[in-house]
Amino acid sequence: MSRKFFVGGNWKANPTTVKETNELIELLNKAKITANVETVICTPFIYLSLVKSKLRSDFAVGAENVFNKDKGAYTGEITPPMIKDLGVTWTIIGHSERRDILKEDDTFLASKATEALKAGLKIIYCCGEHLEERKAKKEKDFVSAQIDKLIPAISADKWDSVVIAYEPIWAIGTGVVASTADAQEMGKTIRELIAAKVNPGVAAKLRILYGGSVKSDNCKDLAAQPDVDGFLVGGASLTPSFIDIVNSPP
Ligand code: G3P
Repeated sequence: MSRKFFVGGNWKANPTTVKETNELIELLNKAKITANVETVICTPFIYLSLVKSKLRSDFAVGAENVFNKDKGAYTGEITPPMIKDLGVTWTIIGHSERRDILKEDDTFLASKATEALKAGLKIIYCCGEHLEERKAKKEKDFVSAQIDKLIPAISADKWDSVVIAYEPIWAIGTGVVASTADAQEMGKTIRELIAAKVNPGVAAKLRILYGGSVKSDNCKDLAAQPDVDGFLVGGASLTPSFIDIVNSPP
């Protein structure tokens, strides 16, 4: 089963000015994309309209989060229909920074996934263990439990709109990238879990990304792994090296 390689950029809480955002848009618009790859740029809410209006059409645009309701008395929240109405087609859900800093739990995140898919968005759903779980050799149990909580939230007809991003927390922003073996092992584990608990057809088509200190000097070895179908890139997505990562598929 061939799965189209997928590279997402997660800008996180960057940049902080319209000027810098325009500079990043210009960098991406000038890039030479040589690979057969699907790309999504996920930006802070405040820049979504600007990026959507100026970014080249072969790059999709995504939010970094959405609320789990479609509208109503939820001060400060951004709902999936609002994102969809901008022409934005993707959203990240469950990034570890929202799990650990904002204390968003699996139940809340699963409801976000349901609401986002209901609104017609496609989702990049994040999972990944802490260093403590890895050291205790419990990383597979930890990540499997995260995916187990997501599965009931996804109706059978919506799995084509789901991408899973495995991001070991100890690799995020640290420069300590997972080994190709670790990335492959967890991708395989997630795919086997989906095959068993959803169905083999969904598992075969599902893109499973790796995220965590992906750089231009490590992306090719990671991209060569059978169960690494792409990347979710943080820091490097704000630099010209992001294009090397986009062009990394074997
Ligand atoms: O969502 C991607 C992000 O968590 C990875 O960050 O800076 O290690 O590429 P970074």
